[in-house]
Amino acid sequence: MEEIVGLCKRRGFIFPSSEIYGGYNGFYDYGPLGVELRNNIKQAWWRDMVQRRDDIEGLDSTIIMHPDIWKASGHVDGFSDPMVDCKESKLRYRADQLFFAPVVVEGATIGYVSVVECPEQQAIAEKAAAELKRKAAKQGELAPIVLKDYTESKPEEYDLIPSPATGKPGSLTAPREFKLMFETKVGPLADDSAVAYLRPETAQGIFANYKNIVDTGRVKIPFGIAQIGKAFRNEITPRNFIFRSREFEQMEIEYFISPNADWKTLHREWIDTCTDWLVSIGLSREGITEDIHPEDKLAFYSRATTDLMYQFPHGEQELWGIACRGDYDLMQHQKHSGKSMTIFDEASKEKFVPHVIEPSLGVDRTLLAVLTAAYTIDEVPNDKGKVEKRTLLKFSPKVAPVKAAIFPLLKNKPELVERAQALYKKLQRRWNVFYDASGAIGRRYRRQDEIGTPFGITIDFDTIEKDGTVTLRDRDTCEQRRVTEDELIAFLEEQIDG
Ligand code: GAP
Repeated sequence: MEEIVGLCKRRGFIFPSSEIYGGYNGFYDYGPLGVELRNNIKQAWWRDMVQRRDDIEGLDSTIIMHPDIWKASGHVDGFSDPMVDCKESKLRYRADQLFFAPVVVEGATIGYVSVVECPEQQAIAEKAAAELKRKAAKQGELAPIVLKDYTESKPEEYDLIPSPATGKPGSLTAPREFKLMFETKVGPLADDSAVAYLRPETAQGIFANYKNIVDTGRVKIPFGIAQIGKAFRNEITPRNFIFRSREFEQMEIEYFISPNADWKTLHREWIDTCTDWLVSIGLSREGITEDIHPEDKLAFYSRATTDLMYQFPHGEQELWGIACRGDYDLMQHQKHSGKSMTIFDEASKEKFVPHVIEPSLGVDRTLLAVLTAAYTIDEVPNDKGKVEKRTLLKFSPKVAPVKAAIFPLLKNKPELVERAQALYKKLQRRWNVFYDASGAIGRRYRRQDEIGTPFGITIDFDTIEKDGTVTLRDRDTCEQRRVTEDELIAFLEEQIDG
């Protein structure tokens, strides 16, 4: 993760927000390359999920909506995470990410260990337990360390579990519910009647507009409404770079189906569609796994949820949630707004409130997954044939921030420069391309490899003196071949636009 964060900063993908003031925890800014990558991901999703499908319509609803929407959806009362404070260090943890275990020697508890969730948490806890035993000068066998999260702790244990910050017991509070929605005030009044919320998901904007789209569109069951937009959550512990932040973006679909539909088959189809899409933007199929939520852990309105998990640098984590939410949200809005949410289904001649399947994906998390999949270190020969390490980002041409770089072989040969500039201007009308005339050609290739530019195009003397062909270099294999301008454009079209 550190290497990816370093590369992102160095090459202008992602910066900590408000960095000149020391940064602002849980907020990130996207620089010149980051914004291109981000836009390409969103465009690819919109093209594949909305424009290339006949059954999905797009929407762009406001971030701040009528506060009653959040009462109806259950967010005002229920959208919270359990947190725990360390009274001494003033640090705050998510209780379900803080793990603890009693340290038991020969049947007697000699103390507790605690650890903040991480891939090595078991090893860290075991080491701390062995240290505790050594300090207590206890003889005998240490019982296996069984970690539980802090939400499972009992009141009599609060004073015994050490704070991970200080290592001392007695400073952790009991778990408390912490509201995740950011509040603001709308209008001139400063009282409670002015309270509004920054949306914590884009989904409710879709439910609130469902009737508009049914009444004005040509939709028929099953159909979906898609939206891309910002969401805000006052996460207790934003962490792992852009994986969990306080301001992020979501790409969500509510797919409305008949209550009598074979929802299990449709759910499966959505899981496969989502997996295929991730592969199409450069994630490896093997790196994606499915986490099926156990039935007893589902919300009461949910029939099934499967998360697509991805192997991030900090471990295997949720990337895309695909939930079957029944008719809960529409029913709630029908109840709270007093507006009917029924639809007439021509095919079955029935009237009903549809059920939904909800594929919900974070833009920033997808971007981190794309970066993780692309980040590679390999060895290739340099200009002099000496094998060197190189860092490259193997972005799919579909999402790569810069699609191709155009180089005149020499910068002091006007005829080469002129020809290269002309090609650059031509390609620039269609794609984000880059022109670079400075430095040895090998160095110029490396600079592009590091930011994931899939193709290098060099204009040399053969181009101007012989057949007009250019050298096309592949980032991953470093292979070069000569192509005509027409062949080049056809190739780029196929690779980039699919
Ligand atoms: N409407 C359903 C919903 O919002 P969620 O599982 O809370 O479900 C959906 O969020 C997706 O949004 C997640 O799978 C993740 O990709 C992204 N996401 C959620 N919280 C996030 C955060 N704090 N930072 C970045 N991405 C987040």
